Amino acid sequence: MVIDLHSHILPGVDDGAYTMADALEMARMAADSGVHTLVATPHYRYYGHDNHSQILETFDRLQDQLAYEQIPLNLVLGTEIWLAHGNCPTLESNMCYPNTNWFLAEFSVDESPENMDLMLQAYADQGYRPVVAHPERYLAVLDDPIIAKHWLDRGWGVQINRDSLLGRFGRRCHACSEFMLAQGWVNLIASDAHDPQIRSTSWSAALATLTRDVSHRMLERCVEINPRKILENQPL
Ligand SMILES: [Fe+2]
Repeated sequence: MVIDLHSHILPGVDDGAYTMADALEMARMAADSGVHTLVATPHYRYYGHDNHSQILETFDRLQDQLAYEQIPLNLVLGTEIWLAHGNCPTLESNMCYPNTNWFLAEFSVDESPENMDLMLQAYADQGYRPVVAHPERYLAVLDDPIIAKHWLDRGWGVQINRDSLLGRFGRRCHACSEFMLAQGWVNLIASDAHDPQIRSTSWSAALATLTRDVSHRMLERCVEINPRKILENQPL
């Protein structure tokens, strides 16, 4: 059973699903491939536009449609927050995973490791707990993956993208994500799904591959046990 903490399934609010039909197809693909809970994590203030009321309204509409279509998927609302120097928003409760102090953070690919640390630690000092989205896509981590271990050592979430492990983001991302996983420097794997075709919500191919390549215990920790801890506001 998969608890997927990172997806862009809400239609029309960011660069994820385009239409409600796409979103429903993504929901079906998730449910059919063993996903129990899918967290919608739309980009916060997409392109500088405050889209929060649109996000809430779209989330409610999608939940109604899931019930109507009888798609057995627990849909949860989160947010993905882009952090950059000069762009570290004050966190409000609706920007974390619901009823928790865990939040999902992403950076530009060329952000410096010093800046990433400073920004994440500033939130940690306020009592928040970061989940770092797709570290294997940041140039600093590609050059020096031990950065991820330092985040892990502080009790934070290190979430690699499922499709990086399948080689869909190129050779460097693939090698880096495999290396981090083998070292035990990863505690979460999520889809970061954006559409039904290219970056989808289906876990079928990934589970087949990962079941072959990764220990059962590690896989279960990254896709089920630790995601559940986050949603229950427990430490990792
Ligand atoms: Fe994302």
